[in-house]
Amino acid sequence: MRTTVGIIGGGPAGLLLARLLHRAGIACVVLESRTRAYAEGRQRAGMLEQGTVDALRAAGAADRLDVEGMVHHGIELRFDRERHHLDFPALTGGRTVTIYAQTEIVKDLIALQLADGPPLLFEAEALAVEQPQSEAPVVRFRHEGRQRTLRCVWVAGCDGSHGVARNAFPAASGRTYAHDYPYSWLGVTAEVPPSCDELIYARHARGFALHSMRSPQVSRFYLQVPRGTSLRDWSDERIWDELAARFAVDADWTLRRGPITARSVTEMRSLVHEPMRHGRLVLAGDAAHIVPPTGAKGLNLAVSDVRLLARAFTELHAHGSARLLDGYSDLCLRRVWQATRFSYDMTRMLHAQPDGDAFDYRMQLARLRRITASRHAAAELAANYTGLPLSP
Ligand code: FAD
Ligand code: DHB
Repeated sequence: MRTTVGIIGGGPAGLLLARLLHRAGIACVVLESRTRAYAEGRQRAGMLEQGTVDALRAAGAADRLDVEGMVHHGIELRFDRERHHLDFPALTGGRTVTIYAQTEIVKDLIALQLADGPPLLFEAEALAVEQPQSEAPVVRFRHEGRQRTLRCVWVAGCDGSHGVARNAFPAASGRTYAHDYPYSWLGVTAEVPPSCDELIYARHARGFALHSMRSPQVSRFYLQVPRGTSLRDWSDERIWDELAARFAVDADWTLRRGPITARSVTEMRSLVHEPMRHGRLVLAGDAAHIVPPTGAKGLNLAVSDVRLLARAFTELHAHGSARLLDGYSDLCLRRVWQATRFSYDMTRMLHAQPDGDAFDYRMQLARLRRITASRHAAAELAANYTGLPLSP
């Protein structure tokens, strides 16, 4: 099998890249190791920056998003039993965010891809990228019980945090920066209308809690839990009691409870791999960087990478210039480090530190009080949350 851009991974990054390349007339093939049902069912992100929505529109993949996406004008911060609203349009000159689940983005992109190409192979697991520094890199993969090869001009590693593309970078040619956080998130989906109009980020001595949503009928929640937590320790009743305790305020507010339909535990990690290109192999999305989910940057970063990468391939294809591809890694990494900083700061400000003392707690409260008291500090949070410019 031969193509121009071999794309490893059919998550949001790989599928969106395929759409954008297809629209620019560039041939590509997507290899996805999982089944279609698995890829479409994986519960993850839900908050989209304006730039992410714009990119999905530019790819012709926003018909359902434009109808079902819920535009939010801010978030609520809760701490010390108080509620504080941050008004994003007022703080950012009109910017908003949109709630639309990653599962739905993936379904929309898969449906388009299967309707008019380019090829997307499920249960096609990439095993290795060979000769990334040559003019003809090769992806070895397993499909329908056979080992096969995909001969490419370029390879895009969009295979997430456990993929194989990154392994093709020689150890001496790059560096990985990582930081682990001493807690995890228990995420649950519940068949109950949200108890809020906007997302709630709550800092509580018992730990962080987030109230998000998937639709007017479906709520999504996250709870800080100790690293290594087992789902078996969390009955439905315990989850609801813990959420109610962490969201409790002095004002009149109650948490609606309902049947829990999905639950999972996610560890929290920051990781950046530098550089994001080696020869004819480029990385995009979680394959190159991971952020802790506080602040909702992972999917949005994956989409920003892909917008820059599609632009770079299009310039090469249309004008023969590799200028943008040569600058791809540096340009992405500048924004990646800003999102890494923001996610780190949000995580540290809102989570109870297991080894934290009374001084740490006071520092967190002082940060939160600064944001709710100073328009300047609130505007800085809002600018990062709604999304920094694609290129600084
Ligand atoms: P992935 O979605 O991981 O896709 C990679 C794909 O590659 C997968 O389909 C995988 O099966 C496939 N693959 C892997 N190895 C191979 C192989 N060898 N061969 C072929 N295919 C392979 N981000 C936000 O922006 N907003 C949020 O609100 C948010 N909330 C989150 C909440 C949680 C609980 C979690 C866990 C994450 C959240 N994120 C959020 C992060 C976001 O989900 C990820 O950053 C996003 O999925 C990255 O997309 P990707 O395409 O780079 O990687
Ligand atoms: C969601 C997840 C996040 O990490 C976040 O900060 C906001 C929303 C979500 O899954 O809806």
